Amino acid sequence: MTRTETAQALAEAARRALRAPSILNTQPWRWRVHEDVLELSADRTRQLGSIDPNGRLLTLSCGAALHHARVALSATGHDAVVERFPDPADDDLLARLRLIDGHAPPERALEQLEAMRRRHTDRRPFAATVPVPAPAISAMTQAAEHEDASLHRVPVENVPSLATAVETAAAAEARMADYQADLHEWTHRPRAGGDGVTAEAVTARMALPVHLRDFSGDETLLDPGFGNDRFAEFFILATANDTRHDWLRAGEATSAVWLTATSAGLVASVMSEVTEVPEARELLRRLLPTPAYPQLVFRMAVDMQPPPYPKSARRPPSDVIEMS
Ligand SMILES: Cc1cc2nc3c(=O)[nH]c(=O)nc-3n(C[C@H](O)[C@H](O)[C@H](O)COP(=O)(O)O)c2cc1C
Repeated sequence: MTRTETAQALAEAARRALRAPSILNTQPWRWRVHEDVLELSADRTRQLGSIDPNGRLLTLSCGAALHHARVALSATGHDAVVERFPDPADDDLLARLRLIDGHAPPERALEQLEAMRRRHTDRRPFAATVPVPAPAISAMTQAAEHEDASLHRVPVENVPSLATAVETAAAAEARMADYQADLHEWTHRPRAGGDGVTAEAVTARMALPVHLRDFSGDETLLDPGFGNDRFAEFFILATANDTRHDWLRAGEATSAVWLTATSAGLVASVMSEVTEVPEARELLRRLLPTPAYPQLVFRMAVDMQPPPYPKSARRPPSDVIEMS
Protein backbone atom coordinates (compact mmCIF):
# COMPACT_ATOMS: atom_id res chain seq x y z
CA MET A 1 0.00 0.00 0.00
CA THR A 2 1.14 3.54 -0.67
CA ARG A 3 1.41 6.04 2.17
CA THR A 4 -1.75 7.75 0.99
CA GLU A 5 -3.68 4.47 0.92
CA THR A 6 -2.49 3.63 4.44
CA ALA A 7 -3.54 7.04 5.74
CA GLN A 8 -6.92 6.67 4.01
CA ALA A 9 -7.52 3.25 5.60
CA LEU A 10 -6.71 4.63 9.05
CA ALA A 11 -8.90 7.72 8.57
CA GLU A 12 -11.76 5.50 7.39
CA ALA A 13 -11.45 3.35 10.55
CA ALA A 14 -11.56 6.48 12.72
CA ARG A 15 -14.59 7.70 10.78
CA ARG A 16 -16.43 4.41 11.35
CA ALA A 17 -15.48 4.51 15.04
CA LEU A 18 -17.51 7.71 15.41
CA ARG A 19 -20.56 5.40 15.75
CA ALA A 20 -19.23 4.03 19.07
CA PRO A 21 -21.41 4.46 22.17
CA SER A 22 -20.30 6.98 24.80
CA ILE A 23 -21.53 8.30 28.13
CA LEU A 24 -24.34 10.81 27.40
CA ASN A 25 -23.12 10.74 23.79
CA THR A 26 -20.21 13.00 24.75
CA GLN A 27 -17.91 11.31 22.17
CA PRO A 28 -14.90 12.30 24.29
CA TRP A 29 -12.24 11.25 21.80
CA ARG A 30 -9.86 12.68 19.23
CA TRP A 31 -8.17 10.77 16.41
CA ARG A 32 -4.93 11.67 14.67
CA VAL A 33 -3.64 9.99 11.51
CA HIS A 34 0.08 10.31 11.06
CA GLU A 35 1.77 8.24 8.30
CA ASP A 36 1.05 4.57 9.16
CA VAL A 37 -0.14 5.34 12.69
CA LEU A 38 -3.57 6.15 14.12
CA GLU A 39 -3.65 7.72 17.59
CA LEU A 40 -6.60 7.89 19.96
CA SER A 41 -6.62 10.60 22.62
CA ALA A 42 -9.03 11.54 25.37
CA ASP A 43 -10.80 14.87 24.97
CA ARG A 44 -10.94 16.10 28.58
CA THR A 45 -13.12 19.07 27.62
CA ARG A 46 -15.91 16.47 27.26
CA GLN A 47 -15.37 14.78 30.63
CA LEU A 48 -18.33 14.89 33.04
CA GLY A 49 -16.93 16.49 36.19
CA SER A 50 -19.92 15.51 38.33
CA ILE A 51 -20.22 11.76 37.81
CA ASP A 52 -16.86 11.03 36.22
CA PRO A 53 -14.20 12.96 38.15
CA ASN A 54 -11.48 10.36 37.51
CA GLY A 55 -12.36 9.81 33.84
CA ARG A 56 -13.43 6.17 34.11
CA LEU A 57 -16.54 6.62 31.96
CA LEU A 58 -14.61 8.80 29.50
CA THR A 59 -11.95 6.08 29.17
CA LEU A 60 -14.63 3.38 28.78
CA SER A 61 -16.21 5.42 25.98
CA CYS A 62 -12.85 5.84 24.26
CA GLY A 63 -12.26 2.09 24.63
CA ALA A 64 -15.51 1.45 22.76
CA ALA A 65 -14.27 3.73 19.97
CA LEU A 66 -10.92 1.91 19.92
CA HIS A 67 -12.66 -1.45 19.48
CA HIS A 68 -14.84 -0.01 16.70
CA ALA A 69 -11.68 1.17 14.90
CA ARG A 70 -10.01 -2.23 15.36
CA VAL A 71 -13.07 -3.95 13.86
CA ALA A 72 -13.18 -1.51 10.94
CA LEU A 73 -9.50 -2.14 10.15
CA SER A 74 -9.83 -5.90 10.41
CA ALA A 75 -12.99 -5.98 8.28
CA THR A 76 -11.28 -4.00 5.54
CA GLY A 77 -8.36 -6.45 5.48
CA HIS A 78 -5.81 -4.67 7.70
CA ASP A 79 -3.84 -6.03 10.63
CA ALA A 80 -2.85 -3.48 13.25
CA VAL A 81 -0.65 -3.60 16.32
CA VAL A 82 -2.29 -1.77 19.22
CA GLU A 83 -0.21 -0.13 21.95
CA ARG A 84 -2.29 1.08 24.89
CA PHE A 85 -1.02 4.11 26.86
CA PRO A 86 2.12 4.23 24.68
CA ASP A 87 3.57 7.47 26.07
CA PRO A 88 4.24 7.72 29.83
CA ALA A 89 4.56 11.51 29.40
CA ASP A 90 1.08 11.85 27.88
CA ASP A 91 -1.76 10.42 29.99
CA ASP A 92 -4.35 11.45 27.43
CA LEU A 93 -2.81 9.43 24.60
CA LEU A 94 -4.83 6.24 25.05
CA ALA A 95 -3.78 4.10 22.11
CA ARG A 96 -1.59 3.97 19.06
CA LEU A 97 -2.52 1.65 16.19
CA ARG A 98 0.06 0.82 13.55
CA LEU A 99 -0.82 -1.01 10.33
CA ILE A 100 1.44 -3.98 9.76
CA ASP A 101 -0.09 -6.26 7.21
CA GLY A 102 -3.00 -7.14 5.02
CA HIS A 103 -5.16 -10.24 5.17
CA ALA A 104 -8.49 -11.56 3.99
CA PRO A 105 -11.13 -10.03 6.28
CA PRO A 106 -12.27 -12.60 8.86
CA GLU A 107 -15.98 -13.49 8.74
CA ARG A 108 -16.42 -12.33 12.35
CA ALA A 109 -15.00 -8.86 11.64
CA LEU A 110 -17.37 -8.48 8.67
CA GLU A 111 -20.31 -9.41 10.90
CA GLN A 112 -19.18 -6.93 13.55
CA LEU A 113 -18.74 -4.18 10.95
CA GLU A 114 -22.31 -4.76 9.84
CA ALA A 115 -23.41 -4.71 13.51
CA MET A 116 -21.65 -1.32 13.95
CA ARG A 117 -24.11 0.15 11.44
CA ARG A 118 -27.16 -1.25 13.28
CA ARG A 119 -26.11 -1.05 16.96
CA HIS A 120 -27.99 1.54 18.96
CA THR A 121 -29.24 2.24 22.46
CA ASP A 122 -32.91 1.36 22.89
CA ARG A 123 -34.35 2.86 26.09
CA ARG A 124 -37.91 1.72 25.34
CA PRO A 125 -39.32 -1.09 27.49
CA PHE A 126 -38.40 -4.27 25.65
CA ALA A 127 -41.24 -6.07 23.87
CA ALA A 128 -39.52 -9.49 23.75
CA THR A 129 -41.75 -12.47 24.50
CA VAL A 130 -38.94 -15.04 24.67
CA PRO A 131 -35.77 -15.21 26.78
CA VAL A 132 -32.28 -14.36 25.50
CA PRO A 133 -30.99 -17.60 23.91
CA ALA A 134 -28.14 -19.40 25.70
CA PRO A 135 -25.81 -19.42 22.64
CA ALA A 136 -26.03 -15.61 22.47
CA ILE A 137 -25.09 -15.39 26.17
CA SER A 138 -22.09 -17.62 25.69
CA ALA A 139 -20.96 -15.68 22.57
CA MET A 140 -21.17 -12.40 24.54
CA THR A 141 -19.31 -13.92 27.51
CA GLN A 142 -16.51 -15.02 25.19
CA ALA A 143 -16.42 -11.62 23.52
CA ALA A 144 -15.92 -9.96 26.93
CA GLU A 145 -13.20 -12.43 27.93
CA HIS A 146 -11.37 -11.83 24.67
CA GLU A 147 -11.02 -8.19 25.77
CA ASP A 148 -9.81 -9.07 29.30
CA ALA A 149 -13.20 -8.43 30.93
CA SER A 150 -15.95 -10.68 32.25
CA LEU A 151 -19.69 -10.67 31.71
CA HIS A 152 -22.07 -11.96 34.39
CA ARG A 153 -25.76 -12.59 33.85
CA VAL A 154 -27.77 -11.38 36.85
CA PRO A 155 -29.94 -14.33 37.89
CA VAL A 156 -33.66 -13.59 38.19
CA GLU A 157 -33.57 -13.87 41.98
CA ASN A 158 -30.93 -11.10 42.12
CA VAL A 159 -32.77 -8.63 39.86
CA PRO A 160 -34.51 -6.96 42.87
CA SER A 161 -31.07 -6.38 44.45
CA LEU A 162 -29.87 -4.86 41.18
CA ALA A 163 -32.98 -2.64 41.18
CA THR A 164 -32.14 -1.50 44.74
CA ALA A 165 -28.57 -0.66 43.78
CA VAL A 166 -29.83 1.34 40.79
CA GLU A 167 -32.35 3.20 42.97
CA THR A 168 -29.59 4.02 45.47
CA ALA A 169 -27.54 5.57 42.65
CA ALA A 170 -30.48 7.44 41.13
CA ALA A 171 -31.48 8.91 44.51
CA ALA A 172 -27.91 10.06 45.19
CA GLU A 173 -27.56 11.64 41.73
CA ALA A 174 -30.95 13.36 42.00
CA ARG A 175 -29.45 15.31 44.94
CA MET A 176 -26.30 16.33 43.02
CA ALA A 177 -26.71 19.82 41.56
CA ASP A 178 -23.55 19.45 39.45
CA TYR A 179 -24.89 16.22 37.92
CA GLN A 180 -28.21 17.90 37.13
CA ALA A 181 -26.24 20.67 35.40
CA ASP A 182 -24.19 18.14 33.36
CA LEU A 183 -27.33 16.21 32.44
CA HIS A 184 -29.02 19.43 31.33
CA GLU A 185 -25.99 20.43 29.26
CA TRP A 186 -25.73 17.08 27.44
CA THR A 187 -29.46 16.83 26.76
CA HIS A 188 -29.64 20.37 25.37
CA ARG A 189 -26.80 20.50 22.89
CA PRO A 190 -27.03 22.60 19.71
CA ARG A 191 -28.35 20.31 16.93
CA ALA A 192 -25.49 21.13 14.57
CA GLY A 193 -22.88 19.83 17.04
CA GLY A 194 -23.96 16.21 16.55
CA ASP A 195 -23.55 15.13 20.17
CA GLY A 196 -25.54 14.70 23.39
CA VAL A 197 -28.71 12.72 24.07
CA THR A 198 -31.64 14.10 22.12
CA ALA A 199 -35.34 13.95 23.01
CA GLU A 200 -35.86 11.43 20.16
CA ALA A 201 -33.72 8.87 22.04
CA VAL A 202 -35.52 8.94 25.40
CA THR A 203 -38.97 7.97 26.63
CA ALA A 204 -40.99 9.33 29.53
CA ARG A 205 -40.19 7.59 32.83
CA MET A 206 -41.72 4.10 32.96
CA ALA A 207 -42.32 1.61 35.76
CA LEU A 208 -39.87 -1.20 34.96
CA PRO A 209 -38.29 -4.02 37.00
CA VAL A 210 -35.03 -2.03 36.97
CA HIS A 211 -35.29 1.72 36.36
CA LEU A 212 -33.33 3.36 33.59
CA ARG A 213 -31.49 6.67 33.94
CA ASP A 214 -34.09 9.38 34.42
CA PHE A 215 -34.17 11.78 31.47
CA SER A 216 -37.75 12.82 32.20
CA GLY A 217 -36.84 16.29 33.47
CA ASP A 218 -36.42 17.07 29.80
CA GLU A 219 -38.57 16.75 26.73
CA THR A 220 -38.99 13.08 25.75
CA LEU A 221 -40.09 12.28 22.20
CA LEU A 222 -39.50 8.52 21.93
CA ASP A 223 -42.75 6.54 21.91
CA PRO A 224 -42.31 3.85 24.58
CA GLY A 225 -44.52 1.34 22.72
CA PHE A 226 -46.09 -1.60 24.56
CA GLY A 227 -43.11 -3.53 25.93
CA ASN A 228 -42.77 -4.24 29.64
CA ASP A 229 -39.21 -5.61 29.99
CA ARG A 230 -40.64 -8.95 31.15
CA PHE A 231 -37.95 -10.83 29.22
CA ALA A 232 -35.18 -8.28 29.74
CA GLU A 233 -31.92 -9.76 31.04
CA PHE A 234 -29.23 -7.89 32.93
CA PHE A 235 -25.49 -8.47 32.63
CA ILE A 236 -22.68 -6.94 34.66
CA LEU A 237 -19.47 -6.19 32.78
CA ALA A 238 -16.53 -6.39 35.18
CA THR A 239 -12.73 -6.28 35.23
CA ALA A 240 -10.17 -7.86 37.57
CA ASN A 241 -8.71 -4.47 38.55
CA ASP A 242 -9.80 -0.86 38.36
CA THR A 243 -6.93 0.98 36.66
CA ARG A 244 -7.21 3.21 33.58
CA HIS A 245 -5.91 0.24 31.56
CA ASP A 246 -8.86 -1.83 32.86
CA TRP A 247 -11.25 1.00 31.96
CA LEU A 248 -9.94 1.15 28.38
CA ARG A 249 -10.21 -2.63 28.04
CA ALA A 250 -13.70 -2.54 29.60
CA GLY A 251 -14.68 -0.04 26.89
CA GLU A 252 -13.32 -2.36 24.21
CA ALA A 253 -15.29 -5.18 25.84
CA THR A 254 -18.43 -3.00 25.91
CA SER A 255 -18.19 -2.59 22.15
CA ALA A 256 -17.34 -6.28 21.57
CA VAL A 257 -20.27 -7.50 23.70
CA TRP A 258 -22.71 -5.01 22.19
CA LEU A 259 -21.73 -5.84 18.58
CA THR A 260 -21.98 -9.57 19.36
CA ALA A 261 -25.44 -8.97 20.86
CA THR A 262 -26.54 -7.00 17.79
CA SER A 263 -25.31 -9.76 15.45
CA ALA A 264 -27.24 -12.30 17.55
CA GLY A 265 -30.51 -10.36 17.08
CA LEU A 266 -30.55 -8.74 20.52
CA VAL A 267 -31.28 -5.14 21.46
CA ALA A 268 -29.65 -3.33 24.37
CA SER A 269 -29.24 -0.31 26.54
CA VAL A 270 -26.51 0.19 29.12
CA MET A 271 -26.73 1.56 32.63
CA SER A 272 -23.77 3.22 34.28
CA GLU A 273 -25.29 5.32 37.08
CA VAL A 274 -25.13 2.27 39.38
CA THR A 275 -21.34 2.31 38.90
CA GLU A 276 -21.02 6.10 39.36
CA VAL A 277 -22.04 6.23 43.04
CA PRO A 278 -19.57 4.34 45.28
CA GLU A 279 -22.25 2.95 47.61
CA ALA A 280 -24.30 1.62 44.69
CA ARG A 281 -21.22 0.22 42.97
CA GLU A 282 -20.44 -1.70 46.15
CA LEU A 283 -23.97 -3.20 46.14
CA LEU A 284 -23.44 -4.18 42.51
CA ARG A 285 -20.07 -5.70 43.31
CA ARG A 286 -21.77 -8.02 45.81
CA LEU A 287 -23.84 -9.48 42.96
CA LEU A 288 -20.71 -10.77 41.23
CA PRO A 289 -19.85 -14.45 41.76
CA THR A 290 -16.14 -13.69 42.31
CA PRO A 291 -14.32 -10.51 43.42
CA ALA A 292 -14.09 -8.04 40.52
CA TYR A 293 -14.86 -4.40 39.65
CA PRO A 294 -18.22 -3.73 37.96
CA GLN A 295 -17.81 -1.28 35.07
CA LEU A 296 -21.23 -1.20 33.39
CA VAL A 297 -24.59 -3.00 33.34
CA PHE A 298 -26.21 -4.17 30.10
CA ARG A 299 -29.96 -4.54 29.74
CA MET A 300 -30.77 -6.81 26.82
CA ALA A 301 -33.54 -8.75 25.14
CA VAL A 302 -34.36 -10.45 21.87
CA ASP A 303 -35.04 -7.61 19.44
CA MET A 304 -38.82 -7.42 19.00
CA GLN A 305 -38.87 -3.62 19.18
CA PRO A 306 -41.23 -1.87 16.80
CA PRO A 307 -39.50 0.24 14.13
CA PRO A 308 -38.16 2.82 13.73
CA TYR A 309 -35.07 2.40 15.90
CA PRO A 310 -34.07 5.39 18.01
CA LYS A 311 -31.24 7.34 16.38
CA SER A 312 -28.40 9.34 17.90
CA ALA A 313 -26.30 12.08 16.33
CA ARG A 314 -22.54 12.11 15.75
CA ARG A 315 -19.98 14.88 15.50
CA PRO A 316 -18.69 15.71 12.01
CA PRO A 317 -15.49 13.76 11.19
CA SER A 318 -13.59 17.01 10.56
CA ASP A 319 -14.12 18.01 14.23
CA VAL A 320 -12.64 14.74 15.53
CA ILE A 321 -10.11 13.37 13.03
CA GLU A 322 -6.85 15.21 12.36
CA MET A 323 -4.62 14.28 9.41
CA SER A 324 -1.00 15.30 9.82
C1 LIG B 1 -19.64 4.28 29.44
C2 LIG B 1 -21.07 4.45 28.98
C3 LIG B 1 -22.07 4.72 29.92
C4 LIG B 1 -23.39 4.85 29.51
N1 LIG B 1 -24.38 5.04 30.45
C5 LIG B 1 -25.67 5.10 30.08
C6 LIG B 1 -26.72 5.20 31.05
O1 LIG B 1 -26.48 5.18 32.25
N2 LIG B 1 -28.00 5.28 30.61
C7 LIG B 1 -28.31 5.26 29.28
O2 LIG B 1 -29.49 5.33 28.95
N3 LIG B 1 -27.34 5.15 28.33
C8 LIG B 1 -26.05 5.07 28.69
N4 LIG B 1 -25.05 4.93 27.75
C9 LIG B 1 -25.42 4.91 26.32
C10 LIG B 1 -25.14 6.27 25.65
O3 LIG B 1 -26.02 7.25 26.13
C11 LIG B 1 -25.27 6.09 24.13
O4 LIG B 1 -24.27 5.22 23.69
C12 LIG B 1 -25.14 7.41 23.37
O5 LIG B 1 -26.22 8.25 23.69
C13 LIG B 1 -25.13 7.18 21.85
O6 LIG B 1 -26.28 6.49 21.43
P1 LIG B 1 -26.21 5.08 20.67
O7 LIG B 1 -25.71 4.06 21.65
O8 LIG B 1 -27.64 4.83 20.23
O9 LIG B 1 -25.27 5.22 19.50
C14 LIG B 1 -23.73 4.77 28.13
C15 LIG B 1 -22.71 4.50 27.19
C16 LIG B 1 -21.40 4.32 27.61
C17 LIG B 1 -20.32 4.00 26.60
